[in-house]
Amino acid sequence: MSTYRTLDPASFALKDWHPYMIGSVIPRPIAWVTTIDAQGRPNLAPFSYFNIFSSKPPIAVFSPSTSGRTGQPKDTHKNLLEVPECVIHIVPYALVPRMNITTGEYEHGINEIAKAGLETLPSEVVRPPRIAGTPVQMEARLRQILSLGDTPGAGQLMIVEIVRLHLAEEILDAKGLPDPRKMDVVARLGAFWYLRVRPENLFWMKQPRNPTEVLAWEELPQDLRESRILTAADIGHLLAYRPAHAELLVSAATPPNPDTLHRQMQAFLPHEPEKAWALYCQALGLPVSS
Ligand SMILES: Cc1cc2nc3c(=O)[nH]c(=O)nc-3n(C[C@H](O)[C@H](O)[C@H](O)COP(=O)(O)O)c2cc1C
Repeated sequence: MSTYRTLDPASFALKDWHPYMIGSVIPRPIAWVTTIDAQGRPNLAPFSYFNIFSSKPPIAVFSPSTSGRTGQPKDTHKNLLEVPECVIHIVPYALVPRMNITTGEYEHGINEIAKAGLETLPSEVVRPPRIAGTPVQMEARLRQILSLGDTPGAGQLMIVEIVRLHLAEEILDAKGLPDPRKMDVVARLGAFWYLRVRPENLFWMKQPRNPTEVLAWEELPQDLRESRILTAADIGHLLAYRPAHAELLVSAATPPNPDTLHRQMQAFLPHEPEKAWALYCQALGLPVSS
């Protein structure tokens, strides 16, 4: 069991506390945001205090905090006060070095898009441009600003409503949905660490819909809980499918050769948990169907 170090945010200055915040909640998606000022000059900056919070209405929130250095609002925030529109892009690995350039706190009015050598595409319903080469682009309108304070580092939540979603064709699956295996996007971790979303790091785990379909952890036989073969995601799939006569599992004997049996069960996961359970029940002499 871990032992824990417990911290009280109130006893830290911003610069010492910030690394704990960004190091603890990982990975964070990155909103790469274009805005324009009243004179139409574009701005581009990354924000990892970002996520979506509602599907319908489609709401995203990102937070350009009051600058820890100058105590001033960031240009993205100022621009949204002048022109309440933006485009949020998800950053592909290929554009990471350019994204890093656009984080520089340039003078207001400096065009980070040009500085990073990026090309733009016109947006459909908002004025800020889209950044070419990004897999996901969300045109959005400002709905509300929720200020969390006026001291340096205080978050300024830009609550925006997505009005157009553009998806690069090459990231779509056969149903036309974004396929994470094709996206090669990045997320922010603590310090200067990033995560690259690669197919080999992904796993698929179906969400159980109905509690009566689920097997509770304490009903799971010990050999499965302690399996040397089945992964955490495999166990997740077994738990999400309650076999017939599950109540008999607790009193069943341990299989004589669990590794072999678990390997055979694994061949049916994640898509056919019912077959994996049928194998297990057969091996233990339990009835297979209801
Ligand atoms: C990956 C990444 C994520 C960042 N996330 C945030 C954030 O969530 N909030 C913030 O205020 N600054 C964040 N920054 C720093 C801003 O990008 C930086 O202050 C930028 O200059 C703001 O640009 P602007 O003044 O043009 O709006 C982040 C920087 C990087 C590289």
